Order: sequence, then structure tokens, then C-alpha cells
Amino acid sequence: MDPQNKVAVITGGASGIGLATAKLLSANGASVVLADVQADLGAGAVHEIEAAGGRSHFVETDVLKAADLQRLMDSTVETFGRVDIVHNNAGINERGDFLQAGADEWQQTLAIDLQAVIRATQIAVVQLRKQGNGGVVINTASMGGIIPMPTSPIYATSKAGVIQLCRSLGYLASEGIRVNAICPSFTDTPMVRAAGEAAIERMAQEVGGILKAEDIAAGVLKLVEDDSRAGAVMRVTVRNGHDFAFERRPR
Ligand SMILES: NC(=O)c1ccc[n+]([C@@H]2O[C@H](COP(=O)([O-])OP(=O)(O)OC[C@H]3O[C@@H](n4cnc5c(N)ncnc54)[C@H](O)[C@@H]3O)[C@@H](O)[C@H]2O)c1
Repeated sequence: MDPQNKVAVITGGASGIGLATAKLLSANGASVVLADVQADLGAGAVHEIEAAGGRSHFVETDVLKAADLQRLMDSTVETFGRVDIVHNNAGINERGDFLQAGADEWQQTLAIDLQAVIRATQIAVVQLRKQGNGGVVINTASMGGIIPMPTSPIYATSKAGVIQLCRSLGYLASEGIRVNAICPSFTDTPMVRAAGEAAIERMAQEVGGILKAEDIAAGVLKLVEDDSRAGAVMRVTVRNGHDFAFERRPR
């Protein structure tokens, strides 16, 4: 799909990977709707995108709330007439030590990183079906969903779930609806900055370096443009750039 004159929705769009993706899709001609709990950052991002000549709109959204996700979709269609690209990207890191964490802590991780992505994917597919012109859903998973992540097992479990969700929905390609996952390796965003310099240095050494949010945005753009990919799982790593795990191709 050529993003020119298309409409994209990006959750977690006020920061990091979501913001970089919004800017890149906008630079490639798409109207971009940013959704986030961080309203001030979202408003600033819209301002920045519009100042660069793009079309953008912010909808304050808590992905934990089903009603917010539906309102986001409705508001997108109301503002720009339809939706073509949905990037379910909002996410949080796991907090605390696995063996110490209470149920509410790990449930929060599962709720944002997996359950909200399932719900948002449902809403997106229903809308794309209704429109009847196909479309693409790209869900942000993580390399932590493919390889073990001893420091964040619930996060890794959530992201593995996102990967399997996307792979399992590959069959929607028969309707022109492509659901794909993107799996960033360690990426320099406010989420990882919160861990502090020493942790960043250690992680970067472990995985061979640190990616920029723009590297992930470039992968999302590739997944938008490549009509042959459905149920695909793109990895983004310092060592191999953009490549695919599982190599499932549409039937
Ligand atoms: N940074 C990395 O190393 C890395 C690696 C792999 C995957 N990821 C994934 O990339 C995605 C984006 O993360 P990022 O690194 O850009 O971090 P980030 O913190 O910069 O961006 C995440 C955004 O999600 C928003 N968000 C969190 N909870 C929300 C909620 N309930 N409702 C709406 N918005 C909410 C935050 O406000 C924030 O703007 C996440 O899904 C993350 O798990 C990040």
C-alpha cells in the first residue's frame, strides 16, 4: 500500500517508536491520528507534524478502555473519512521482579501489552471489513517475544502473544486485510531511557547496539508498502537490520 493520501492510526503515538512512525507516514503522505494517554505530548506532536506540512489529529486514548479504542476509531473515520493503516504500538515495560510481583503488576503488563492489542486489532479489522477496501494492521511486539527475556518474563509473554495473534490472522489476506507484527530489538526511546544509563549500556552490549526509533518506523513503512506480507513477523535488529522470523508467506 502506498501511504500517500491514506489514513493511519497510531497508538502510543505521542512518544518514541509511535511518534517516529507517525512522522514517517506523514512525510510519505498519510494523514495520521495519534492516540496516547499523554495528552500534552500528543498535542505537541500534532503541532510538529502539521508544521512540517502534514495532516494530524490527536485523540486522548487509554488503550486499557475498550470504549476509548472504539472512540479512537470512530473519531478517525469522522475526521478523515476512513482508516487504512492501524499501528497498535502503545506499550509499557514490566515493573519489578517476577517472583516478587503481585497479580496487579503483571496483569497491568498483560492488559496493555497483549489484551489491548487484541481488542484494538478486532476493532480495526471490523472497520476495515466494513469499508471493504482492505488495509493493514501492524502490531508492535518485540524481539523479547521471540527470544527469552529473563528480566521481563511477563512482557516477553505478552509480546509472544502479539506475535501469535498476527500470525494467526494471516488468513485475512484473502480479504485484502494484512495483519503483521514488528519486533524491535533494544531501541532508544523514553521507555528504555527510564532504566538509566548503566542499564542502557549493559543492554546495548548484550544485543550488539541500540536502535533509533526511526529504524523501527522504517520497518513499519516497509510493512505498509509490501502488499505480499500478511501474518508476517518483522525483526528489527542492529546486526541484521529488517528481516523476517518464521517466514510465513500468504497462501
Ligand atoms: N524501546 C524498546 O527497546 C522496545 C523494544 C521492543 C519493543 N518495544 C515496544 O515498542 C512500543 C513503543 O514503545 P517505545 O519504546 O516507543 O516507548 P515510549 O514509552 O516512548 O512509548 C510508548 C507510548 O505508549 C503510551 N502508552 C502507555 N500506556 C498506554 C495506555 N494505557 N494507553 C495509551 N497509550 C499508552 C505511552 O504514553 C507512550 O507514549 C511498545 O509496545 C514497546 O513494548 C520497545
